[in-house]
Amino acid sequence: MHQRSPKSSFKYIAFEGIDGSGKTTQAKRFYSYLQNLGYNVFYTKEPGGADERLRELILNHRWNKKSELFLFLADRALNSDIIRIRLDEGNLVVSDRSMFSTLAYQGFGEGFDLDFLFELNLFATGGLKPDLIFCFDIDMETMKERVKNPDVIELKSKEFFERVRNGYIHLAETERDFFLIDGRKAEDEIFEEVKRIWESL
Ligand code: TYD
Repeated sequence: MHQRSPKSSFKYIAFEGIDGSGKTTQAKRFYSYLQNLGYNVFYTKEPGGADERLRELILNHRWNKKSELFLFLADRALNSDIIRIRLDEGNLVVSDRSMFSTLAYQGFGEGFDLDFLFELNLFATGGLKPDLIFCFDIDMETMKERVKNPDVIELKSKEFFERVRNGYIHLAETERDFFLIDGRKAEDEIFEEVKRIWESL
């Protein structure tokens, strides 16, 4: 298929939201949608996009807050090398989570300083950050209904997840090209909204 040129400034697209928000489903649908439009697209996820061992290490074992933060950053440092190569090759990149997960979970959730986290993230990625973010918002009840086999992060308290959720809402208000979408709507309706935003850019 003929390769279309990526829209000039939106090449690295991240999907964000608290656990159970539906971001993985939407990220996969968006990936297929872009492929069908004729774009070359690379799909990745964090943690684990570059090395599944890191995902296993992070999500199946208990860590203290700092080691958890550095493991997510180590994972991102590896993944960003791959993302950069793919972008240089002319691909669009769709990523299930990104540095904004660290800002929401480790920043708003755990209380690490946001400016410091921002710097650490840019250090880890060599300055690479998503150009466009779709973030899905759900309430705590919906999250509880949807998350069935919790990993170590998902076992954190309701108060922790309230802070993460509010963190994402704050990021949507302050960050450029960061779109917050109601994640309680039907899957198809949400995807229509994602496409509408993409087409309007
Ligand atoms: P995810 O892959 O979305 O979980 P699932 O397999 O359940 O869909 O993410 C794993 C967990 O890691 C999730 O609870 C969010 C958390 N996380 C952070 O706390 N910080 C980060 O920087 C990232 C990338 C993820």
